[in-house]
Amino acid sequence: MVILGIESSCDDTSAAVIVDGVLRSNVTASQKVHEEFGGVVPELASRAHQQNILPVVDTALKRAGVTKHDLSAVAFTRGPGLLGSLLVGTSFAKGLALALHIPIIDVNHLQGHVLAHFVTDQQSPITNQPSFPFLCLLVSGGNSQIVLVKAYNDMQIIGQTIDDAAGEAFDKCAKVLGLPYPGGPWIDKLAKQGDAAKYPFAKPAIKGYDYSFSGLKTSFLYTLRDMLQAHGVESIDELAERVPNLREDMCASLQTTIVDILMRKLKKAAQDLNIRQVAVAGGVSANSALRQAFIDFGKKYHWDVFIPPFAFTTDNAAMIAQAGYFKFLDHDFSAIDEVPYAKTTI
Ligand code: KG4
Repeated sequence: MVILGIESSCDDTSAAVIVDGVLRSNVTASQKVHEEFGGVVPELASRAHQQNILPVVDTALKRAGVTKHDLSAVAFTRGPGLLGSLLVGTSFAKGLALALHIPIIDVNHLQGHVLAHFVTDQQSPITNQPSFPFLCLLVSGGNSQIVLVKAYNDMQIIGQTIDDAAGEAFDKCAKVLGLPYPGGPWIDKLAKQGDAAKYPFAKPAIKGYDYSFSGLKTSFLYTLRDMLQAHGVESIDELAERVPNLREDMCASLQTTIVDILMRKLKKAAQDLNIRQVAVAGGVSANSALRQAFIDFGKKYHWDVFIPPFAFTTDNAAMIAQAGYFKFLDHDFSAIDEVPYAKTTI
């Protein structure tokens, strides 16, 4: 069984091939075109997907050692994401499948992130996989959710952000500090040389398992504004000349606050539901402090923790092919007239 997975929901064009349940290739073209704008420009993203998709799919097939005629089905991200970007992957998948007389399988991008934990990769094998039910903290540029995963195809969001996503908080605060986009990896890097206790930022008081990051963003902004005023300067660069280790300390304090907010709710959910299998997924799961927090919580609360390899944290087609593989086993195929959706739940 040979499944081609295609991911094009945001600014990464990715294709992956899974043969008999084992990942053979995972090729991603990340779009550099957005860097100068400090965020993803949807129009440019769609055009870059159009340019990238054929060479990316071609390379994925070659690296997997298969041809298009070996394919059993094409799995593609149907949503959520940017509609113009999704349309490129969806249309490509349909065209290819029609030409080859094989089925298409639509995949929910969020479910894909969760199912990244089941990718069997010969290059970097995941030795242990979560068993059901487990909790998954899904944290990316657009989502912050606690998901109760009951089965491959049965997931329930039990908590989610009521405003910004965790990745958005990283990216927006990084932008204020004058760091490039996406800011999350930069904050992670600078935080390593910073004092995490230097700036105590506001933490939200939201009921249940929901998250909020907009108050933290404002608190971050006001701290900088007050320091600019106190030093009588107008730019972050001028302030950084007067305040030693400014960016590093701000990054470390922000990172520790975000991780603390995320882990508190997750701990509450794990305790309330009496679940000890706990996973993390999505772009922000590449964050070193969050990964360490998972290891620490695992030891402290006797959780089995599941942290994905770096290649499967940010958007990738391996997770889409994996979700497609499970659906193929269930003969869960899609109609040719199905359309992408910009917003959806899990
Ligand atoms: O899942 P993902 O690739 O895609 C979307 O949500 O579209 O997540 C991207 C997010 C960005 O906000 C990025 O800043 C964040 O993941 N991210 C990180 C790190 N690496 C990526 N955030 C914090 N620390 C990191 N090391």
